[in-house]
Amino acid sequence: MAFFKRKKPAYTDISQIELPSHIGIIMDGNGRWAKKRGLPRSAGHTAGAQTFRKIARYCSDIGVRHLTVYAFSTENWRRPETEVSAIMKLFKEYLEEAIRDFKDDSIVLKFIGDRSAFSPELLALMEENEEESKDREGMVLNIAMNYGGRAELVRAMQSIARDAKDEKLDIEKIDEGLISDYLYTKGQPDPDLIIRPSGEHRTSNFLLWQSAYSEYVIMDVLWPDFREEHLNQALIEYANRNRRFGGV
Ligand code: IPE
Ligand code: IPE
Ligand code: MG
Repeated sequence: MAFFKRKKPAYTDISQIELPSHIGIIMDGNGRWAKKRGLPRSAGHTAGAQTFRKIARYCSDIGVRHLTVYAFSTENWRRPETEVSAIMKLFKEYLEEAIRDFKDDSIVLKFIGDRSAFSPELLALMEENEEESKDREGMVLNIAMNYGGRAELVRAMQSIARDAKDEKLDIEKIDEGLISDYLYTKGQPDPDLIIRPSGEHRTSNFLLWQSAYSEYVIMDVLWPDFREEHLNQALIEYANRNRRFGGV
């Protein structure tokens, strides 16, 4: 059997590459990071939240236009109450800090997912952050909270059906572009690159529709240990891939 020869990587440094316009990150491995240290899982989430701040800032600094981070999935409610409330507390801290400290920031904050499950306090902070940042011109940071790709598609289908029933939409006009416009990521490009730290080879319900042609880079590092160098490594791996989109 003949094996394809792996081409020698053309790129070895991020200064040589064209950046992906949209990066997705599945911020995974917080629990294992804590376990390895004999700490409660919540300590892993605290460390992971610090990594998130650093990596989001780094992406914005190097000129990434869209970053989507998977922070909490529709399935993560299955976790013990203590863990879920520790995560909610971290969200609240981050959102308060974002409002307070980032007045002159350029990052546009958006939240994707089903908000109806969050406390009124958290909801108000999400809305305030979106409102405050909406006219900025920097990177769009989508934070996926209570997000699930399937739930997003269910919601889109319900809205499409409702609009068709109300005669706001002609069924013949339903195409891929229209479906994209009913998703939380409306108006944003599909992710070019999705990074999953912690070594798991699955999507776990992240951006199902949008990731049809995304390049996945799976990395063995746990999210709290993820550094700028890991992001650079993923960018270089991405730049050395050959995207064909079904062509030749
Ligand atoms: C990701 O880390 C954070 C969330 C899903 C909220 P995990 O908590 O899933 O960490 P592992 O996968 O158990 O190590
Ligand atoms: C995906 O990680 C969700 C987030 C990182 C927010 P999970 O840890 O929930 O995924 P599974 O359970 O390993 O598939
Ligand atoms: Mg996990």
